[in-house]
Amino acid sequence: MCRGNGMSVVVVVGTQWGDEGKGKIIDLLAERAHIVARYQGGNNAGHTVVIGEEEFILHLIPSGALYPDTISVMGNGMVIDPVVLCEEIDSLKARGIDLEGRLFVSDRAHVVLPCHKILDQVLDEMRGEGRIGTTGRGIGTCYVDKFTRVGIRMADFIEPEVLAEKTEISLREKNAFLNGRCGKEGIDPKRAAEEMLPYSKRMRRYVTDTATLLNKAVARGESILLESAQGALLDVDFGTYPYVTSSNPISGGASVGTGIPPSKIDRVLGVVKAYTTRVGEGPMPTELFGEAAERLRNAGPRGEYGATTGRPRRCGWFDAIVVRYSAMLNGLDYVAITRLDVLDDVPEIPMCVGYKYKGKTYDTFPALLRVAQECEPIYEEMPGWMSPTVDARRFKDLPAAARNYVERLCELVGVPPAIVSVGPRRDQTMVLKEVI
Ligand code: IMP
Repeated sequence: MCRGNGMSVVVVVGTQWGDEGKGKIIDLLAERAHIVARYQGGNNAGHTVVIGEEEFILHLIPSGALYPDTISVMGNGMVIDPVVLCEEIDSLKARGIDLEGRLFVSDRAHVVLPCHKILDQVLDEMRGEGRIGTTGRGIGTCYVDKFTRVGIRMADFIEPEVLAEKTEISLREKNAFLNGRCGKEGIDPKRAAEEMLPYSKRMRRYVTDTATLLNKAVARGESILLESAQGALLDVDFGTYPYVTSSNPISGGASVGTGIPPSKIDRVLGVVKAYTTRVGEGPMPTELFGEAAERLRNAGPRGEYGATTGRPRRCGWFDAIVVRYSAMLNGLDYVAITRLDVLDDVPEIPMCVGYKYKGKTYDTFPALLRVAQECEPIYEEMPGWMSPTVDARRFKDLPAAARNYVERLCELVGVPPAIVSVGPRRDQTMVLKEVI
């Protein structure tokens, strides 16, 4: 292992609507990191990492966990379903990856409980036409509890008496809603707390003050990767609201979600898919339909299907407006371009360089949903390379047209490339610049 020396705190973010391939990129960089810390979201995420012939899909545990002595931190900004976390720990252990003594869960992270999942699904259904298409994992409803201050944090969860008391308070309003508004049976608070007891007991050994742990590591000059889930266009402040997730995946969220202050962050790397995908509802200006969408969806080795819900992802051409907006919000220093190989068989590749709506041209992402939904993308065509790139290991191995595509993409976005990926495996990667 070649670990970084000298302080290096690097944030890795998704620049589009999630599913950019952050799992692979973080796994790759984690070889040089002492600690990988996730800072928001929960098991709505699905980070796929391929090692040799084996595929791992991580929903909660940071993607660096697959190295035997990397420390994994689940930050205070996360919402954690303890049942899913225990399953994930067990399933990794069964595959030879033991996290004992190297997994730390923030005492201030909020706990996703069964009631959050029930409400997430009930509420999204109630929205009818206006549904968000959430993953149904109780993410938004858990964050609601956090902000209305009836949430249960890990520090509370591991204390049986506090858990019982807080469950009772939290379920009072939920039961009133479920009984009255939905005609559903309420949840018995005593039983709900009891059901969680085995998990409360198990979580105790992992729960700690991770903000202090991380800041001490920063002070020692260790290398730390801060891992986001989802992407900038799903950010609750800057994404395609209300079709967003309930947290801040952008790099600013990394400070809030870990307790590492902004002044200690050295670099931000944005992961960019060479085209665009989105899961769930909401605007996506470059979306393709029918056969054209199917071709992109099924071109790569694993296709474009959600790692968490298995839903087919909506697919479309690269949208420079989205990624440039994202580069600005995240303060990107470098980009890692993924899934370039998916475009190997496309003869002419359109790239969106602007939007047109009612005679007006947009070169940044609009706040008004109607504009994002109804705008017409302005495309620039790039010649395709029509040859396989999966075996390229150095940038110069790529066909000239593929290099031009990458260079044009970076020019449009205004950020230089650090990594280009041409397949799911660790070795299917070109490193142009070491970022950690
Ligand atoms: P939630 O995060 O489950 O509340 O879902 C809100 C929106 O974010 C839905 O459109 C989801 O499909 C989307 N979403 C949440 N997590 C991910 C992810 O990891 N990748 C892609 N989309 C996601």
